[in-house]
Amino acid sequence: MRILAVETSCDETSAAIVESDGTTVRLLSLSTATSLSLHSKTGGIIPEVAAREQSKYIIPVIQEALDLAKSKTDPKHHALSSMQIPDIDAIAVTYGPGLIGSLLVGVETAKTLSLVWNKPLIPVNHLFGHIYANWLIDNRSSVIGKNDNPYAIPDFPLVALIVSGGHTDLLLMKSHIDITWLGGTRDDAAGECFDKSGRLLGFPYPAGPEIEKRAKLGNPKAYHFPRPLLHDAAFDFSFSGLKTAILREVQQLRHPALDAGSMDSRLRGNDINDEQINNICRGLQDAISDVLVSKTIQAAEKYNVSTILLSGGVAANQTLCDSFVQVAKGKGIMFHVPPKYLCTDNAAMVGAAAIFRNEVVEVDIVTANPELYFD
Ligand code: KG4
Ligand code: ZN
Repeated sequence: MRILAVETSCDETSAAIVESDGTTVRLLSLSTATSLSLHSKTGGIIPEVAAREQSKYIIPVIQEALDLAKSKTDPKHHALSSMQIPDIDAIAVTYGPGLIGSLLVGVETAKTLSLVWNKPLIPVNHLFGHIYANWLIDNRSSVIGKNDNPYAIPDFPLVALIVSGGHTDLLLMKSHIDITWLGGTRDDAAGECFDKSGRLLGFPYPAGPEIEKRAKLGNPKAYHFPRPLLHDAAFDFSFSGLKTAILREVQQLRHPALDAGSMDSRLRGNDINDEQINNICRGLQDAISDVLVSKTIQAAEKYNVSTILLSGGVAANQTLCDSFVQVAKGKGIMFHVPPKYLCTDNAAMVGAAAIFRNEVVEVDIVTANPELYFD
């Protein structure tokens, strides 16, 4: 089965062609455009700008994904002929969660192509997309943190952790259809905590990659920030207190003479030096990492599973992956994480989820759902 997948939930416009024999999913092509540079200085995504850029990029990325896949499977293929009815069995599209304006561009384009080309349409939950990036196989072996065999396919039952800019969720998957939500964040998502804390430190959006770079230079003993809900029996997360602890520390360093109650973060105060910033980054990353690793391992032990999956943009953090690898190895648990470029938003993961959750839906009833969670 060969699928054209489309992902436009936020600031990435992405199209991919994937092919499956029912066990693994081979990535034939991936084309992604991003409007990130237009948002980086504002500290977050501007929805109207993201939607406008989505409509600019959507046809070029679909065309490129088709061209790249076609030239791989048919060397005589002439790129410009690709908008003829392509050699695909279905179209998959992210229908939520995400920004309504961005989602609409992908959903309406996919619906139109489905009707014009007479191909079935498979709506995909973006969150399942992240998880299913773990089933993708490409021709690169630069898989981070994975087991010795980078092409190993996850075995059920398993515990899956999604850590992205908007979500932190833990699920128990006994099969592709027997799925139980174990817990999620009560306030900020892990990625949001990276981004908001990074903003306090003066980093552009998204701050995760910069915090990871700085954390490598930081002293692990300089800070021990709170690990919220670490010892709580439930599988929920909470990261807003951690962000507040970073805010307090930044204020304290800027205005050492003021007491906590009278501080005003808008006052410029002292500059924070590089060493202090690096130490805060290290403390922050260690706190997030400790909570994510230990909650996921606790869930695996409670439900007696020996496979865990990591997914979502925060999974691109190599240090976090290394911690998972180390703890999982010690407990005989198999750990999977997608290659870095498939952790952040992309259409390949949407195609993979469509293969296994193959839920063809009448075109007329597919609608963008920004609030979609787990169905
Ligand atoms: O999955 P994703 O691309 O978009 C959403 O669905 O939200 O995740 C984006 C999030 C951002 O919060 C970003 O800061 C975080 O992933 N991120 C990282 C790293 N790379 C991206 N967080 C920590 N370390 C990284 N290296
Ligand atoms: Zn995402």
